[in-house]
Amino acid sequence: MIDPEICIRCNTCEETCPVDAITHDSNNYVVDPDICNGCMACVPPCPTGSIDNWRLVVRAEAYSVQDQLGWEELPGEKSLPADVEQAPEPVEAGNAQPSQAAASPASAMAAGAAVPPWSAAHPYVNLYTHKTPITATVVGNYRVTGADTESDIHHIVLDFGELPFPVLEGQSIGILPPGTDAQGRPHHARQYSLASPRDGERAGYNNLSLTVKRVTQDHGGAAAHGVCSNYLCDLARNDTVQVIGPFGHTFLMPNHPRANLIMICTGTGSAPMRAMTERSRRLIGSGDIGKLMLFFGARTERELPYFGPLMKLPRDFIDINLALSREAGQPKRYVQDLIRERAVQVRELLADRNTCIYVCGLKGMEVGVLEALREVMMQAGEDWSILHDVLRREGRLHFETY
Ligand code: A2P
Repeated sequence: MIDPEICIRCNTCEETCPVDAITHDSNNYVVDPDICNGCMACVPPCPTGSIDNWRLVVRAEAYSVQDQLGWEELPGEKSLPADVEQAPEPVEAGNAQPSQAAASPASAMAAGAAVPPWSAAHPYVNLYTHKTPITATVVGNYRVTGADTESDIHHIVLDFGELPFPVLEGQSIGILPPGTDAQGRPHHARQYSLASPRDGERAGYNNLSLTVKRVTQDHGGAAAHGVCSNYLCDLARNDTVQVIGPFGHTFLMPNHPRANLIMICTGTGSAPMRAMTERSRRLIGSGDIGKLMLFFGARTERELPYFGPLMKLPRDFIDINLALSREAGQPKRYVQDLIRERAVQVRELLADRNTCIYVCGLKGMEVGVLEALREVMMQAGEDWSILHDVLRREGRLHFETY
């Protein structure tokens, strides 16, 4: 069962489930007991652990999808009928124990890894929940795209004062927007990736940053008002915000000397890439950083968040490849086109076991990026599916798409 009080509605479980047993409405994400085969593929990728809840029930009394959609909290344990030993099918909802996850063939089907790289630092998760959020103060809110463009993307800095909020690059937090939804229920938390490194947006300060795009349209282009993104983009200095988290224990950067990063992103998917790049930049003096290769997709230069600061980074520190899709007078290019163009360098990095790959941004690019990586390997007569498996097993390929 998915705990509605912890779930941040990020859709990871629904996307991961190989048998489509997970569904959702505007209230909850739920597991259909008639479809779930207990393969456990959904459990490791969940950034909050909210899906790892178990109740022993007689199969005929398993909680229905309709029941679960109405939950505000998980039901308590029910005692089983006294004659349950003789009942035809007493099962633990979900049928399997968490320890079977690693061996599950279905979990190996997901495109990305369900484990972090071996040298990742250990993350804290769920320190603050819907019931016990932490209050952060806005100490900065700047637009990071051209003022004349449609893409209104903000860099928002939140400070936690004296309260602990330890984070790592690649983790995310939840923001609780004020107010209620159409049914009069408090809004659910919205998830945002950190754009700042572990030691703060400003090194040594207890703060972090987010990259937030003001949502004015849905995926189909129809007018839509993003509840949380508009709230965040309109915040002023000294406003306070309710925060939960941190979340995420797999999309984490390697911590060992000379680890290489291939970072592939579009739009606000650049947030974790900025965090990892800045972490590496602050370590330049140590002499321990590996190679950084960035593929970044945006409509135009002026709609590419952080364009100015990004272009100021030294070329021998990071290999920057910008894929612009709507730049006047230029052919339309996506990140996957540039991965193909840079095949030799990409292959070189892929051949090094110290390389980790991170993909964040539009859902649609996931297939395109995988296909480009496959072609890059194939050109050299190598089998992508073998490497893909290794990358997943070793926690070296991570996706966060939406
Ligand atoms: P496009 O101009 O075709 O929409 P957005 O600004 O909407 O967040 O998108 C960021 C960038 O990602 C844009 O350049 C957009 O191109 C591009 N994009 C859209 N679909 C895909 C896809 N399937 N694969 C890679 N990039 C994509």
